Amino acid sequence: MKGVILAGGLGTRLDPLTRVTNKHLLPVYDRPMIHYPLRQLVGAGIERILIVTGGPHAGHFLRLLGNGHEFGLRHLDYTYQDGEGGIAEALGLAEHFAEGDSICVILGDNLFQRPITPEVERFQRQGKGARILLKEVDDPERFGVAEVDGDRVLGIEEKPLRPKSRLAVTGCYFYDARVFDIIRTLEPSRRGELEITDVNNRYISQGEMTYGVVEGWWTDAGTVASLYRATRLIAGNGAP
Ligand code: G1P
Repeated sequence: MKGVILAGGLGTRLDPLTRVTNKHLLPVYDRPMIHYPLRQLVGAGIERILIVTGGPHAGHFLRLLGNGHEFGLRHLDYTYQDGEGGIAEALGLAEHFAEGDSICVILGDNLFQRPITPEVERFQRQGKGARILLKEVDDPERFGVAEVDGDRVLGIEEKPLRPKSRLAVTGCYFYDARVFDIIRTLEPSRRGELEITDVNNRYISQGEMTYGVVEGWWTDAGTVASLYRATRLIAGNGAP
């Protein structure tokens, strides 16, 4: 399995913090934000990792991370997303890198208290299709929200006004190689982006989606409030 970290976007919800840097380079307690997803992937034994970034500060990722030696990697891959086409478009840029392998995708602003290793192993056993990780939250309307019935995911709504559950779809996804065929067929959403939720709903409609529920805390860090929360959580009890 290969790893992909999506670290593009303009981070407008964090303006003015993101005027002269990329969101994923901002500090979360004692580290740049992108260290956390990178450490998750490396900790799960994933050795081939691609960072998808974009915008005016993309070069700083190279200066910060280099070839990933600090993380025990021999090499890191990078690619550049032109414009603001959304998470699924950014993921589409990983096709040449994946070379038919399955992938573990983490959004660069997502932090998990516990290692994702058991979930990586579960998807390796699953072998095909897709898997998402859910977490019960108090503010589901900020996220993709999943409706589940027992073991099955019935559907996901992106930032619904009236959420059908409190199960947020976290930014850690597992896909087989068909994900790139799905991305090619997507239409932009109302906000003009290719949505990762549309990718996930396609796997759901094909009966190929499984889910896990995150143990320990999970947070994004894409708004002032959640960045502050992430810093407090890390300061309080750390993360891998
Ligand atoms: C994105 C996804 C959303 C997911 C969230 C997790 O939202 O679109 O489904 O729940 O990441 O952090 P965004 O950060 O683009 O608002």
